[in-house]
Amino acid sequence: MAKIAVLGFGVVGSGTVELFYKNKNKIVEKAGTDLDIKYILDIRDFPGSPFEGKFTKDINDILNDDEVTLVAEVMGGVNPAFDFVKSCLERGKSVVSSNKELVAKKGAELLKTAKEHNCNFLFEASTGGAIPIIRPLHQCLAANDITAVAGILNGTTNFILTKMINENMPFAEALSTAQKLGYAEKDPTADVEGHDACRKICILSSLVFGKHVYPDWVHCEGISSITAEDAQYAENWGGAVKLIGSVKRTADGKILPIVRPAFVCGANQLSSVNDVFNGIMVYGDAIDQVMFYGRGAGKFPTASAIVADLIDAAKMKGTSISQVWEDSKDNSFIADYKEDVLPFYVRVQGVSKDKAKEVFGEVEFLTRNNCPADEIAFITPEIKEKDFDEKLAQLGGKVLGTIRVLNLES
Ligand code: HSE
Repeated sequence: MAKIAVLGFGVVGSGTVELFYKNKNKIVEKAGTDLDIKYILDIRDFPGSPFEGKFTKDINDILNDDEVTLVAEVMGGVNPAFDFVKSCLERGKSVVSSNKELVAKKGAELLKTAKEHNCNFLFEASTGGAIPIIRPLHQCLAANDITAVAGILNGTTNFILTKMINENMPFAEALSTAQKLGYAEKDPTADVEGHDACRKICILSSLVFGKHVYPDWVHCEGISSITAEDAQYAENWGGAVKLIGSVKRTADGKILPIVRPAFVCGANQLSSVNDVFNGIMVYGDAIDQVMFYGRGAGKFPTASAIVADLIDAAKMKGTSISQVWEDSKDNSFIADYKEDVLPFYVRVQGVSKDKAKEVFGEVEFLTRNNCPADEIAFITPEIKEKDFDEKLAQLGGKVLGTIRVLNLES
């Protein structure tokens, strides 16, 4: 018998509790032991809730109750989640979490604490929502030398881009719909500016390459500069513009994590991942490529991963199964993104095609409907990022947009 405490009764917390009771019989059978939710921690009141008797506002009720051996942290944010999670682990209570900010900023420390207290800190729900990716990376794909991971890691921005491009929905309306559907963060700037995807690529990078990658070390750009015109050029090129979080090992043995909008070619399956769905490609020496796909945000998709972690934690009572990665003293193992070599999309006004070729060499010109006569757009050959800015300045004219082209090969 194990008792569970759920920290936070927001979108994911309420989804966790509802899903648990909906499928309790199956969940208990799979866990191999009786389970029940004893506490729900939240500072708010929920009068009339069917779970009314379970609410507490005091974390000490949970910390001091030896019957509680499993904790689901679904509060979000680092404070006070970090103190609560650490205190639970120090008492030997396994914690499962959907909190990407917490894992990205404090993962190494919490994993170490879990190991020291012979319990588990699991966070399948932190990345990719419903998609199994954490466990596959450190278990099913463990035999591989993984060289790169690239994905659409934020459901809200993918939803917004899909609505803006396919349905001509204005940005503000697409964002407010994503908020209503429970996809967006409390502060949706984290979605729009790429910080949420950044936290997720930090988690995947730490997991794959074994050293903690902190968000401050990762170059991060969001979707706010993408226009409908850029999307149309991408579509006519046969691909799509997507917010991509990726990490790859570079020739000098460092790693390059980055979050940015990218032109994704049609041959890459990520180009057809739409709506709130996430897609994650993993590249390894034995597998070539494996793709993971599913709903990346939302109440029940995320709750699915939380409850599955609770089941695993219950089954593994008394053993520490969670992956541990080293903390990192500095970022010397992170490559400078300016040294990366890749093609760029450029949209510019008042520049001739000849001038574009003179500056960049063999460019590929793109088309869009109703393109003004003085506008051109093209894809450059591969170029070192730090040289790209200089070349762009040589073009003259008015630059209307530049977007990197996804390239994990160089
Ligand atoms: N705001 C996040 C997203 C929630 O849209 O992907 C899931 O992590």
